[in-house]
Amino acid sequence: MEELERLIREEIQREGSVSFARFMERATLEPGLGYYATPQRRAGRSGDFMTAPELHPILGAAIAQLATATWERLGRPATFRWREFGAGEGTLLLTVLDYLARERHPLLAALEVSVTEANPHRLADLAAALKQLPAGGPPLVAAGSPPIAGIVVANEFADALPFHIVVGRAASPGGFAERRVTVDPVTNALTWAEGAPDPRVADRLAPLMAGWPPLTEGQLAEISPATADWAATLGAELTEGVVLVLDYGREGVDLRDPSSRMAGTALAYQGHRATADLLSEPGSRDLTAHVDLTLLRTAAQAGGLRHVVSTNQARFLASAGVDSEVARTRSGPEATLEGAIALRSALAQLMDPRRMGGFAVEVFVAGRSPGANALADSASPLPGTAAPNRPLV
Ligand SMILES: C[S@@+](CC[C@H](N)C(=O)[O-])C[C@H]1O[C@@H](n2cnc3c(N)ncnc32)[C@H](O)[C@@H]1O
Repeated sequence: MEELERLIREEIQREGSVSFARFMERATLEPGLGYYATPQRRAGRSGDFMTAPELHPILGAAIAQLATATWERLGRPATFRWREFGAGEGTLLLTVLDYLARERHPLLAALEVSVTEANPHRLADLAAALKQLPAGGPPLVAAGSPPIAGIVVANEFADALPFHIVVGRAASPGGFAERRVTVDPVTNALTWAEGAPDPRVADRLAPLMAGWPPLTEGQLAEISPATADWAATLGAELTEGVVLVLDYGREGVDLRDPSSRMAGTALAYQGHRATADLLSEPGSRDLTAHVDLTLLRTAAQAGGLRHVVSTNQARFLASAGVDSEVARTRSGPEATLEGAIALRSALAQLMDPRRMGGFAVEVFVAGRSPGANALADSASPLPGTAAPNRPLV
């Protein structure tokens, strides 16, 4: 048995059972042992899952358009921050920097970078990659630095934050019980148990579940106070600018629709395969659930952000102004057949609403300055936020 599973079992032995959120926290973040704490690369072809920035730089080019427009509308501030959550080894950031360098865009000289990344190995990769850039790349400033103007980006970050799992039980207080993790006394395997949540957790879940219709008997649903807490802090990240959250998610009401979501959405990923077995081999599988977009928006707005638009990745790409990037890849002076094929294949995934094209893109504005108001002006939508008038593929 792996060291991490032994530690989790010790905690279960002491407590009787632990919430799935606690299990997930340890399985993903336990220092030196968790899924996101070891040297192994998790995203990308050789890892367990593919993300849009790992697939192709086109999403980076689209976000670069949004960043440059934000910088322009804010009056080209002398310093402008790229603030990224769950940046990994910096794949998305590096494609944005590459795009700005190729375009010789003046934003590059104003840019500073601040990232929150749990994995110290990926953070070291990111810092090393920045150092390799001409003139050492943009300065890397600590997370928690006083806010300035900028753009906040979080791609597939919120789905990795710990969540509780609740199960509809008409006989329990509030009509639900918590799905907890314990050890089966007969088989000695990690298994599920049902019980009341810890009273402090119950206090935290109650306001987040206040508007939920009753769960059907036996229906599973995920709920992530960690996502609500994180979203509520986003408003304090910038003095003014744009906050962009990209992830797979649905409105809360859809996530709790018993006709389509009786089993919830939690999955474990390993080697590009998904399984509903969340408890086996803690530390070697990605654990994830759809993001509750209603909860995310409510918390972000309570934290001071103005919501601008809810769109999806396909619409975002089609209206972000990446035509010149597409043309350059297909027929520019450096175009290759391989590059054109890679773009076409990536767009097929990124634009398909049943695949990554259907991923949610939530856009918010921070600040109340005239520049910030210009960012939120629906008469002049930011790149990626208008309704597209044609597909990109
Ligand atoms: C699904 S990966 C996405 C990586 C990257 N954004 C991309 O799109 O390729 C999630 C990233 O968030 C990081 N992460 C997960 N939980 C975190 C936490 N609580 N705090 C900071 N980073 C976290 C992981 O280490 C990983 O790099």
